[in-house]
Amino acid sequence: MSLPTDLMTQTIAISNQKGGVGKTTTCASIGAALVKKGARVLLVDLDSQASLSVALGQAVHLNDESIADLLDTSPSSGELSPADLIHPTSLPGLDIALGDPRLAVVEHHLPEQTGYEHLLKNHLQSLAAGYDFVLQDCSPSLGPLTIMALTAANQVIVPVQPDYLAAWGIMRLMETIEAVHQRTNPHLQYRILAVMYDQRNTITREMLNRLQQNFNGRIFKTIIGVDTRVRECAVTGEPLLQYAPSTRASKQYLQAAGEYLQWIGSSEG
Ligand SMILES: Nc1ncnc2c1ncn2[C@@H]1O[C@H](COP(=O)(O)OP(=O)(O)O)[C@@H](O)[C@H]1O
Ligand SMILES: [Mg+2]
Repeated sequence: MSLPTDLMTQTIAISNQKGGVGKTTTCASIGAALVKKGARVLLVDLDSQASLSVALGQAVHLNDESIADLLDTSPSSGELSPADLIHPTSLPGLDIALGDPRLAVVEHHLPEQTGYEHLLKNHLQSLAAGYDFVLQDCSPSLGPLTIMALTAANQVIVPVQPDYLAAWGIMRLMETIEAVHQRTNPHLQYRILAVMYDQRNTITREMLNRLQQNFNGRIFKTIIGVDTRVRECAVTGEPLLQYAPSTRASKQYLQAAGEYLQWIGSSEG
């Protein structure tokens, strides 16, 4: 599937309130896959642990301009231009707006502002100019930063590791997506993406079956398998699709990106 020619910038949130389920990997990999299909992509690191920024080779210093500065509306914060905030990665066409630990503080104060949910969406209008896709890597929580990311998003991709605990956690996320859909973003659509799938494990196979039944039509057909090259690439500062383009997970993420393009190209949502 190639890029639609008349594309408006699409904003995607990668979210799941559980940690270690493959959000950051999915964000970098789908982003890189869309670049390989000819798109210009901006990644937005919304996690105070800044794992996405670090994994893509960005040294994160506390005095660097980050998304935290963008969202900080205290009088002492100055004006920021997109150029201050956006950095290139090792893959041309893939840029990143950094996260940093101050996001935790900013998040704490966000609800003090009425309509805070729309803050990032408003900023993205100028920040995302010239990009085909914006991918937001959410933190492992359903707090104000995630609500804001879901409000700014056209689509949310939910990486789920098919195991028993993950299936429980996902119901709370579904409630949050439904609440955002009703309150601040009636256009929000979602899909589940099964990741880190280990087909040798019987329980995992059973859980994948259940996910596919429960989310029929709302789950990617592509499944991302466990792949040891994924862990290695974070050390190199390169996205997986650049570090190991022919490894199985790279091909699967490329296929998932194609499926994503089909999804947004179809009218049924
Ligand atoms: N398909 C995969 N195969 C093997 N390891 C993976 C895969 N996807 C992610 N990982 C590893 O699992 C860990 C958690 O992934 P990460 O993307 O950081 O999750 P999250 O952002 O949800 O916390 C990382 O060490 C990452 O390298
Ligand atoms: Mg992460």
